[in-house]
Amino acid sequence: MPTSPADLDAVRDSYDRVADNYVEMLKNDGMGDIRRHPWLLAALDVFADAVRGLGPVLDVGCGPGTVTAYLAERGVDVSGVDLSPRMIEHARQLHPECRFSVGSSTELELAEASYGGLMGWWSMFNLPREVLAEVVANYAKALVPGGQFIIGTHVGDGEVQRTECYGGVPVNWTTYRWQPDQLAAVIEQTGLSITADLRLPRDEFSGPGVILVAKRTG
Ligand SMILES: C[S@@+](CC[C@H](N)C(=O)[O-])C[C@H]1O[C@@H](n2cnc3c(N)ncnc32)[C@H](O)[C@@H]1O
Repeated sequence: MPTSPADLDAVRDSYDRVADNYVEMLKNDGMGDIRRHPWLLAALDVFADAVRGLGPVLDVGCGPGTVTAYLAERGVDVSGVDLSPRMIEHARQLHPECRFSVGSSTELELAEASYGGLMGWWSMFNLPREVLAEVVANYAKALVPGGQFIIGTHVGDGEVQRTECYGGVPVNWTTYRWQPDQLAAVIEQTGLSITADLRLPRDEFSGPGVILVAKRTG
C-alpha cells in the first residue's frame, strides 16, 4: 500500500470546498469539459478501445465524473473514485447511471492483475513525487497483462503552493508539476511501457499539460 501524504486531509477539505464551483465552471464555462477538447477526447477514445473487455477500469480522482461517464457511454466497465465526498455527491447526481465511491489513490487495495485500466486524469498532481511513484507501482501490479494506465497532469518545474482556485475558493494544497520525461521515467520504473506521450499547450483554463499512457506488457 502506498504512503498517504501528510496533507491528505487538507487536500480533501480543499476539494470539498471547491466542488460546487468546479461543477458550475464545468457547466457554464466548459472547464474540464472533455467534449470541447478534441485531443483529450481522442486520447480517451484510444484508451477506451484498448481497455474495453480487458477488465474493470477505475477512474481515480474522478471529480464530478465527467470522464467516468464518457467511458461508460463507450462500453467500458468503468467506475469512479475520489478523495472528496462532495465531488462524489456531484458525480452521483450528474451521472446516476455510473458507480462512484469515496477513497484516496494512496489507500486503494487493488488485487493483483485485476484491472484493465487505471486512470489519473488531472488528479495526481497533489501527490508528492515519491508517493506518486508508489501509487503507480501499486497500479502496475493491479493491471492485467495488456492493461493500461493513463495519466494527464500539469507540466512544469517544481511545486506551487495554491491558496485559492476555481473562482477564488480558498484551498490549501501543493501542485507538483512534472516534466514529461521525468514522469515517464517514474512510470517506466514500475515495469510499465510508455505507449503514448501527448503534449498540450496552455489553454484558457490550465497551464501546459501532458497525457502519458503506459501498458503492462508482462
Ligand atoms: C482537478 S480535479 C479533476 C477531476 C476529474 N478527473 C476531471 O477531470 O474532471 C482533481 C480531483 O482529484 C481528486 N483527488 C486529489 N487527490 C486525490 C487522491 N489522493 N485520491 C483520489 N482523488 C484525489 C480531487 O478530489 C479532485 O476531484
